[in-house]
Amino acid sequence: MGRLNGKVAVITGGAGDIGKAAAKRFLEEGAAVLLADLCEAALAETCLEIGGGKIGYVVADVTSAADNFAMVTEATRRFGGVDIFLANAGIEGDVAAIIDCDEAQFDRVIEVNVKGPFLGLKAAIPALMARGGGSIIITSSVAGTYGGARLAPYSTSKHAVIGLMKSAAKEVAEHNIRVNTVNPSPVESRMIRSLEEGLAPGSEDLVKASLTAATQKPTRSQISCSFSPATNPPLLRARST
Ligand SMILES: NC(=O)c1ccc[n+]([C@@H]2O[C@H](COP(=O)([O-])OP(=O)(O)OC[C@H]3O[C@@H](n4cnc5c(N)ncnc54)[C@H](O)[C@@H]3O)[C@@H](O)[C@H]2O)c1
Repeated sequence: MGRLNGKVAVITGGAGDIGKAAAKRFLEEGAAVLLADLCEAALAETCLEIGGGKIGYVVADVTSAADNFAMVTEATRRFGGVDIFLANAGIEGDVAAIIDCDEAQFDRVIEVNVKGPFLGLKAAIPALMARGGGSIIITSSVAGTYGGARLAPYSTSKHAVIGLMKSAAKEVAEHNIRVNTVNPSPVESRMIRSLEEGLAPGSEDLVKASLTAATQKPTRSQISCSFSPATNPPLLRARST
């Protein structure tokens, strides 16, 4: 007996590598799954690859409120409701120092990675309430807990969804809805290959190691360099271990 028997999951970024892996796992546990993503061909191919009768897809852009409501409507029409909403679609944006980052690219990363999950929650919460509760998961990142050099737009967006998760969790707990983020380290996918390409072409292992290291707790020297106590006392004291 699967742990998700009878449950219905919507996964955004469902044609991507992490979305696809989540879909496979949810199906193995007995859930029905609706994938949402931008490209119909990729969605159809993903459904074919995963197989099984309890999977469907909808072409949707997470930055559109109407598309987010359409995902929930389609899951309800096809499978009877929504119990699990995985807000997973995301983009990496520019890999560049802040002074070189393009403003429009910054806006786009925030639009997809932050506004997308916000609109997803807006659409999904009433559907989960109608089922008497459920689970919302937002894919953040280790870059959402510690900063990473040359990853400012992405890291900013992944910190922001942790705030969204914390606020939403307080709002909907009384409706028996849990809200969490998952914060993966580098995972083999199109996105990680693109980040590797941006940071240091041809040095994939080095980049994976430095991406992980860049998102670890800062050392004492990094903290003491980040402000001058005499003229600029810190508002928030980081702890080093
Ligand atoms: N791969 C990693 O190492 C890693 C680590 C930590 C967090 N993450 C996060 O995991 C999530 C999934 O990433 P992935 O590694 O599977 O990358 P991926 O590029 O394989 O998948 C991302 C998917 O999101 C879709 N998408 C992008 N913009 C969209 C939009 N506006 N509307 C709908 N769909 C859209 C893409 O088409 C793609 O299919 C992302 O949020 C990413 O930030 C990835």
